[in-house]
Amino acid sequence: MATMASTTHLLFAIILFNLLYKGFCQCKLEDIAVGTERTPALIQGKQEWNVSFINTCRCPQQALTVSCDGFQTVEKVDPNIFAPVGNNCTVNGGRPIAPFTTVQFLYAWDPPFIFVPVSSQVHCT
Ligand SMILES: *[C@@H]1O[C@H](CO)[C@@H](O)[C@H](O)[C@H]1NC(C)=O
Ligand SMILES: *[C@@H]1O[C@H](CO)[C@@H](O)[C@H](O)[C@H]1NC(C)=O
Repeated sequence: MATMASTTHLLFAIILFNLLYKGFCQCKLEDIAVGTERTPALIQGKQEWNVSFINTCRCPQQALTVSCDGFQTVEKVDPNIFAPVGNNCTVNGGRPIAPFTTVQFLYAWDPPFIFVPVSSQVHCT
């Protein structure tokens, strides 16, 4: 009886482990949330915006690329945070964005630009 109970426990533990491992580690591009907030500042007469890319997944995601065709700014943006590559832009210089962290930058233009993630690499361990 005791052996059976522990076997059952072990089985449960394995199932649970698999669920947790697979369930939480299947990050998708959709797990990158993009937010744009108005700041109180005007730069050269253009509204300033605070953009956040949030990794809402349990695993790091790297090489995040977003569409940014036509993006313009009068405020200088650190290319280590956000840089154009052809029609797209790389976020965080392609470096990993840790789970539940935000990469943020400021730019100034009217109207605001809608950035849509186009690709990323998920790194679950
Ligand atoms: C930009 O937004 C982030 C996240 O909401 C916030 O932590 C940060 O203080 C903001 N920065 C500015 C300059 O508004
Ligand atoms: C932008 O990203 C899309 C989706 O990954 C890709 O098809 C396209 O070739 C990229 N454009 C450039 C200029 O890299």
